[in-house]
Formats: sequence, structure tokens, C-alpha cells
Amino acid sequence: MKRIVMVCLGNICRSPLAEAILQSKLPKEKFSVDSAGTAAYHVGTSPDPRSIQIARAHGLDISHQRGRQFKIEDFDKFDHIFAMDSSNLQHIIGLARTNQDVEKVSLILESIYPGQHKDVPDPYYGGPEGFKNIYLLLNNACDEISKKLLI
Ligand code: 4NP
Repeated sequence: MKRIVMVCLGNICRSPLAEAILQSKLPKEKFSVDSAGTAAYHVGTSPDPRSIQIARAHGLDISHQRGRQFKIEDFDKFDHIFAMDSSNLQHIIGLARTNQDVEKVSLILESIYPGQHKDVPDPYYGGPEGFKNIYLLLNNACDEISKKLLI
């Protein structure tokens, strides 16, 4: 079993979507996908209704997900850690204990824009367009990631 975790700030907008999108492109018996937030603001809460809605519009149900905070033991549990933006990336790398931990971490959009250090924009304070945008970005990124994982 390969284990992947998607990480954003609150674990209610971007990473719950990323979790469901990537899991939908991979066989469940070989890959497990989870998500977490670097902050603890939304621990135990459901995804943002706008993320639930955009997921549903694309045939994915994320309403059962609950927010949790990324923790140091996640470096042991997961093979790949995808950060949504550079701030999440710095936070996770700050928790790493070894080079092996650091090597597991990357920015998710490096999969489609290598070397460009692009962020998945935080849609929390914006309107519904932001959620459409992050869905498209994450879907494209997860297409690439799943292709690589399935080689
Ligand atoms: P996320 O979005 O990191 O994509 O889940 C956010 C959710 C909540 C907050 C910020 C970003 N917040 O400040 O509560």
C-alpha cells in the first residue's frame, strides 16, 4: 500500500478536494489518500460547503471527511506529502526530523508546472470562482501524479 497525504492550511477547502480527486484516480486496494491542515482551526469539522459542492458537481462526495492537523508522525505514515502552497510547504519542512522526511514533501503544482513553485490559491475568503479554479488545478495535478504513481 502506498500512502499519500494532501496538506493545506485549514483542511477544509483545498486538501479535502485533493484527497478525493487523487483517490478517485487510483485503485483503492493499492493506494490510500488522506489530507490534513497545518493549522488546528478546523479540527473535527466538515469540509467547507463550497468544496463539498464543487466536489459533488464532479461526482465526488467529500462530506464525510473531517478536519485534522498534520502531525510529525505523518512523516512515518505517508510515502508522499503534497503541500498546496509554499507556506504549507515551509511549515511541513519545519517539522521534518530527517532528510528522508524532507524528501517526501513537495508542492502539488510542481507536478504540472515543474520548477515554477506555483501555489494552489487559498479560496477561503473568495467567491465560488475560486473553488472552480482550485478544482481544475487539482484535477490536472492529480492526473499527472496518478500517472506517475501507476508506472
Ligand atoms: P484551506 O482553506 O487551507 O484550503 O482549507 C482555509 C480554510 C480556513 C482558513 C484559511 C484557509 N481559516 O483561516 O480559517
